[in-house]
Amino acid sequence: MIYLDNAATTYPKPENVYLKMDECMRKYGANPGRSGHTLALQAGRIIYRTRELLCELFHIDNPMQIIFTCNATDSLNLALKGILKSGDHVITTSMEHNSMIRPIMTLKKFGVDHTIVQCDQDGKIHPKDIKKAIQKNTKLIAMTHGSNVTGTIMPIYEVGEIAKEANILFLVDAAQTAGVYPIDVQKMNIDLLAAPGHKGLLGPQGTGILYIKEDIELMQMKEGGTGSKSELLTQPDILPDRYESGTPNTSGIAGLGAGIEFILKEGIDKIREHEEYLTRYMLMGLKQIEKVKIYGPKNEKKQAAVVSINIGQEDSSEVSYLLDKVFSIGVRSGLHCAPLAHKTIGTFEQGTVRFSIGYFNTEEDIKKAIGAIKRICEEMEE
Ligand code: ALA
Repeated sequence: MIYLDNAATTYPKPENVYLKMDECMRKYGANPGRSGHTLALQAGRIIYRTRELLCELFHIDNPMQIIFTCNATDSLNLALKGILKSGDHVITTSMEHNSMIRPIMTLKKFGVDHTIVQCDQDGKIHPKDIKKAIQKNTKLIAMTHGSNVTGTIMPIYEVGEIAKEANILFLVDAAQTAGVYPIDVQKMNIDLLAAPGHKGLLGPQGTGILYIKEDIELMQMKEGGTGSKSELLTQPDILPDRYESGTPNTSGIAGLGAGIEFILKEGIDKIREHEEYLTRYMLMGLKQIEKVKIYGPKNEKKQAAVVSINIGQEDSSEVSYLLDKVFSIGVRSGLHCAPLAHKTIGTFEQGTVRFSIGYFNTEEDIKKAIGAIKRICEEMEE
């Protein structure tokens, strides 16, 4: 199988991710932060180590400001529902995933107002349109760093400046960029950063993070055992405990740490340059095929390693079915849980066939994918 579905989850993972998860399960699979015995302390240390690695990657000063969650959806729910209250206004974009839009729609029922700023047909947003949408009661600007449909990279540095100037909180969904694009929460004025562990960070599914800038108070989503201040009947307010009730996914977090170690050792620039090279290669190949329509910026410097296409009016699910069954190529078709993004680029009815490239893909993989699309186009003509 040629795996080109890395925007859904990266696969394979670096070898050490498997090894560290296995080691955790077999050698010190105790409950971290609860008991004081040797194995529990070892489990606690691996979790702390992963927090430190995340700090290094995202330029975060305090490891305690990183909350472990199950995935980016979990992180976005905590951020949005934890911050916004009746009477508040939130600004977002028309390229968001449902993990951003659906919590906002739920909040609407509780009196939270929102503006969805329209992006252009390539998924690009103009920072001035965000600025124009600011109201007196705007509490938060919440947006993706990179579209999961077109890969379009958003101007988060510029929007961060706008948010800071207007004294509005800034939440960034880095689901498609964390681990591949440099993110500096300080320079980019990011107050809240949500990311999955299982995509660009190369960790396992069931892991995610939310960075919360110091002094920002969120309402927690759940209460329970934290292993700290056990004498209290109420949730402790220290971080990360306030937002991390219940036994964590220790082996997953150990694997996530190994994924981040790999990224730091390999170098984020090297990872991104490889993905950019393959994206360019794919775009060039697909541009030669007459029946193929490519969506998004069509420029590897302006998009993450995601290439969405259609073949004429052909159903996107049918094309991805053929890619899988005939050519053994794994992609994702349809709406990618981002209906507004598809409305924005004009593919709400047809969906798209989405190729998403990862660090472990090769030029040969891309060559075969282009060849497969050519063959499908030829067959469809007959
Ligand atoms: N959000 C993931 C995707 O785009 C699952 O496929």
